[in-house]
Amino acid sequence: MEVHRIHFDCLDSTNTWAKAHSGEFDPKKLTCISASTQTKGHGRFNHPWVSKQGNLHISFFFCLSPGDPRLPNLAQIAAFAICSLLLEKGFSIQIKWPNDLIFDKKKLGGILVETTPIGKQLGIIVGIGLNVNAPIEGFISLSEIKGAPWDLESLIDEMIFRFQKELEKGFSPQAFDALLAFKGELVSCYVGDKLIEGTLLGLNDQGQLKLKLSDGTVAHFSSGEINILRTQ
Ligand code: BTN
Repeated sequence: MEVHRIHFDCLDSTNTWAKAHSGEFDPKKLTCISASTQTKGHGRFNHPWVSKQGNLHISFFFCLSPGDPRLPNLAQIAAFAICSLLLEKGFSIQIKWPNDLIFDKKKLGGILVETTPIGKQLGIIVGIGLNVNAPIEGFISLSEIKGAPWDLESLIDEMIFRFQKELEKGFSPQAFDALLAFKGELVSCYVGDKLIEGTLLGLNDQGQLKLKLSDGTVAHFSSGEINILRTQ
């Protein structure tokens, strides 16, 4: 897929801008919209995403047919692309299910996927926020992990290349499972407004999260949000 790059010094949100301009992009290309800062960056559950100069804020726009098998796991494909890229560079980043990037239990980055109709296709917006050079309170940044600043431009180029490659390959539950954090630990998982506790076992072959419950049964989850209760 040919790549079209657009960069702004400042936007409200790269996801919002991508959605508003989705009809103008070439549906056969991967359009990458980045911004040095965002004034209204947002994440999952409408949480604000603090976006400082020096960090990475990018949205990938592309089109898929509504029946594409990759649709339910696009955020996981993006998390896998970033995590495996950083692992190759020697940083032990993991994925907190379903798609947060963490280091030493602290959040480094997150992914927000949104969709918009484009004729008979689905316009996909995969927004990635990664703390690279600017520390954010309550989070961790790559420069804090490395103890030195990062070349943000090269990292963005590498990430675009890697995301493209992983998108072409599609989602592999087995490969994703190998990068999953908190295996064997007691976690709670919100599914809608229901809170379930169990030991995190990993992913099944369908990509669902497996939790071993206190009665010994194994429950499978396609979506939700986990929190750590106890390290075993
Ligand atoms: C999350 O962890 O809740 C997801 C955070 C996603 C933030 C990125 S930054 C680039 C893009 N623009 C946004 O407004 N959000 C995403």
